[in-house]
Amino acid sequence: MEDKIKNLKENANRILNEITSTQELEKLRVEYLGKKGEIVELLKGLKDIDKEKRKKIGESANKLRDYINEKIEKKKIELKEKEYELKINSTKHVDLTVPININVGSLHPITIVQKELEDIFTSMGFTVEDGNEVETEYNNFEAVNVPKFHPARDMQDTFWLENGQLLKTQTSAAQNKIMRKYGAPLKAIFPGRCFRNEALDASHENTFFQMEGMMIDENVSISNLIYFMKSLLSEIFKKDVTVRLRPGFFPFVEPGFELDIKCPYCDGVGCKVCKHGGWIELCPCGMIHPNVLKMGEIDPNKYSGFAFGLGLSRLAMMKFGIDDLRLLNGGNLKVLKQMRIK
Ligand code: DAH
Repeated sequence: MEDKIKNLKENANRILNEITSTQELEKLRVEYLGKKGEIVELLKGLKDIDKEKRKKIGESANKLRDYINEKIEKKKIELKEKEYELKINSTKHVDLTVPININVGSLHPITIVQKELEDIFTSMGFTVEDGNEVETEYNNFEAVNVPKFHPARDMQDTFWLENGQLLKTQTSAAQNKIMRKYGAPLKAIFPGRCFRNEALDASHENTFFQMEGMMIDENVSISNLIYFMKSLLSEIFKKDVTVRLRPGFFPFVEPGFELDIKCPYCDGVGCKVCKHGGWIELCPCGMIHPNVLKMGEIDPNKYSGFAFGLGLSRLAMMKFGIDDLRLLNGGNLKVLKQMRIK
């Protein structure tokens, strides 16, 4: 019996030395330490030998089991390390000195401007809302105080779907939904793509981008509107801008204004950007019409607010010095690459 133990130990050691994978190791474990393994068989045989020897051999057999177990565990760690090393050596190394591919894509100029504005507005406590591109006639016109036969509809001819819906002509189309969603007080902006049936030229496109904003609360007045617009535009142009208001007609605001800024590029002296007029017409705005508040389920006797519509396409043209609106949607990479922000 003692010889058998000795042989088992030698055999196990020999096999352990030859093993090169965890699968082989597992096989060895089952063979020696498994339920029907060599050690169990050995212990079973103890009952046939006399009592005095049994204790000693029993101890030797248990020692052998612990010995093999320990060896297997050690071998396991060794093999795992080797396998890991092999894996690392077989994967290709990344060469950090290779120049990056300069043909990677970049954000569209309008997206760049939109993101900048969203940052400014969210820092002022506004939420950013989504609007639809396909809208109902009600949201696009009725809910912003432009009933069916109102002449203002003529200025916003658009593309109609067979089901009576339309491609939205203005971001104002989301006003009603947002008022109903949040109620008052409310501070939200909603950027989006708009569509109109236009005769195309350098400043008219069938597809363009706007960003609408609304602020509604108790006691909001024109002074708030002017102060807010001035701070906002100063942030956008990164300098203190001078604003002026002219009366403007938009059915959803009363009073309504055209807001101009003194040209930030020439300080009002006259340049290409302001077409030598010294002022740039930038942002129509006004105090939200009581009818519009009512349709949005907000009580006009308690709340008032202002709304404005920023032309994102227009701002992108100014920022990147583009003089033809059509270039923004043209998808010409030679043009767009020049407006990449690094
Ligand atoms: N929705 C108008 C347009 O597309 C722009 C506009 C004007 C938005 C005045 C406003 C506003 O919120 O108060 O022409």
